[in-house]
Amino acid sequence: MACALEVFDDRPGMIPLLRRWAFYTTAAFVTLFLLIQTLHTLEHHSGRFWGKPRSPIEKLRHPGLFGTKFEWKNVPQRHPVDSLVHLPPGQLDEMPRIQHDFEVETEAQRTQRMSRLVGVKAAFEHSWEGYKENAWLQDEVAPVSGKSHNGFGSWGATLVDSLDTLWIMGLRKEFAIAVAEIGKIDFTTTPLAELNVFETTIRYLGGLLSAFDVSGHKHKVLLRKAVELGDMLYVAFDTPNRMPVTRWDWKNGALGGSQEAARFSLLAEVGSLTLEFTRLSQLTGDHKYYDAVARITDVFERQQNLTKIPGLFATFIDTKNADFTRDTTFTFGGMSDSLYEYFPKQHLMLGGANQQYRDLYQTALTSAKQHLFFRPLNHHNQDLLIPGSLTRHSSARQTFTPEGEHLSCFAGGMVALAAKAFNQSHDLRTARALVDGCLWAYESMPSGIMPEVFRAAPCQVTETDDCAFTDARWHQAVAKGDPEQAQTIIADQSLAPGFVAIKDSRYMLRPEAIESLFVLYRITGDTTLQDKAWRMFQAIRKVARTKIAFAGLEDVRHVRPKLIDTMESFFLAETLKYFYLIFAEPGVVSLDEYVLNTEGHPLLRPK
Ligand SMILES: *[C@@H]1O[C@H](CO)[C@@H](O)[C@H](O)[C@H]1NC(C)=O
Ligand SMILES: *[C@@H]1O[C@H](CO)[C@@H](O)[C@H](O)[C@H]1NC(C)=O
Repeated sequence: MACALEVFDDRPGMIPLLRRWAFYTTAAFVTLFLLIQTLHTLEHHSGRFWGKPRSPIEKLRHPGLFGTKFEWKNVPQRHPVDSLVHLPPGQLDEMPRIQHDFEVETEAQRTQRMSRLVGVKAAFEHSWEGYKENAWLQDEVAPVSGKSHNGFGSWGATLVDSLDTLWIMGLRKEFAIAVAEIGKIDFTTTPLAELNVFETTIRYLGGLLSAFDVSGHKHKVLLRKAVELGDMLYVAFDTPNRMPVTRWDWKNGALGGSQEAARFSLLAEVGSLTLEFTRLSQLTGDHKYYDAVARITDVFERQQNLTKIPGLFATFIDTKNADFTRDTTFTFGGMSDSLYEYFPKQHLMLGGANQQYRDLYQTALTSAKQHLFFRPLNHHNQDLLIPGSLTRHSSARQTFTPEGEHLSCFAGGMVALAAKAFNQSHDLRTARALVDGCLWAYESMPSGIMPEVFRAAPCQVTETDDCAFTDARWHQAVAKGDPEQAQTIIADQSLAPGFVAIKDSRYMLRPEAIESLFVLYRITGDTTLQDKAWRMFQAIRKVARTKIAFAGLEDVRHVRPKLIDTMESFFLAETLKYFYLIFAEPGVVSLDEYVLNTEGHPLLRPK
């Protein structure tokens, strides 16, 4: 102080000047501060700040000058867990080899394969360009009108879903263009009132994690956004029993409102989150994501043998009470499917370090073989299998529905993969029959494409019945005891031999059939599967390609079906990726290195 006084003493006249300056500056700051505080308080109470009223969530997201920025990871948990379930350490056994030991191909084989590969890649580039030009950063492009659809949060579902396909197909420039947009996605808001946690997980979280994995962990933004999204979705698990809210009021979650899981949740939406959450824990070292899904698995395990058909789970489960045993309808089709698919895949994702998934899968498959899979009567008397569905009304009364669904065509690939993962080679026959069941449905339609849902005639090979096809037998299945009526129905519905009804004649560009062909090809090395895949691809390209992209089809019984103005993001994430991979070299996305989620996103398996 003395020193300072000395300085001022040397320069007379400075002290009054400095004092005045200090006074005015302080006064100005205080006034400004009070003004901002007043506006802030006014805004808080009236919900207005020179403009339109702001909702509580908007206030949280834009807290003004003195608040902290909203981040999902900072939302306090109402029902925190006592202790986190950790990723299982290490692995129990050496994992069995999944892929076939491929031999070197001939020059002729290579030429043919490469020309097919180019054809598939061109279809992808065409669709990608259509999206870029017409619906860039929207969820989906409408392939006929060129409009856009936003049903998946408006975060650019097609953009995120396509990332890893771009990389795998070697479209590196397009990949860079797409990655440059990822950092701009705002996961703190969406126009949707209710977010579908399952769809968001498999498309966005799976897409980001996969793009990060396949591109060699160089683009950190991909993992950063995956963490942001993971932290958002984690809030949906903050319920009294830690079961997730699958159709989620995210605003309520953000504001810390109370929430509980639903009385009626869809099986697949609850049971197909394990891979993505596990991979996120593996990549970040934060166990909370794994914890969230491991708790669901424990409930599945405890209740598997208590359901109406022990071993299988019904389509609706009561997550509010964690009671999965009450509903009565069982299927491998829509709304159930990927629960089963994720059991063997999660076993691989964990490097075999947790036996729960093996047990869940094997118990489920044993029961499915007995209760769901049926052999359809078919005019070449092939050994085919189709997963049907069963409703058990009571212990004495049940109804079997012999319907094939495009969605359940994943089953062949699942059974093949699991046969390898669990060293159950006899199941490869079952896998082949399931794949052939879908191929039969493709090849029986005039367009060469399988319908969404059809009904077939189940038949059992017994000692007295070889299940041989006859017209009489088929007609009997179409219209019991009335051959004339059968003829009319067959003509009216344009039924191919063996088919009893077409319940839904559309094709929505779905991937499940080519997915299973791809998996079976990589496991067996059977090149006839490539030929069949090429026929499928040509059939789709012939009728579904538009000026902009590819479109759904109204009725696959027509040689030239009418178009439906949608191309869901899975066409680029899955359908075209699987068509590409079946013609790519076997080392591209090897099943010994990757496991693909139910949206076709390859995730690296632990070494
Ligand atoms: C359910 O039953 C199957 C077959 O009977 C058995 O292998 C499995 O261990 C049982 N699961 C549980 C959790 O008890
Ligand atoms: C797989 O099973 C066969 C018998 O079915 C057995 O001989 C073989 O050792 C098993 N392989 C592994 C890796 O467990």
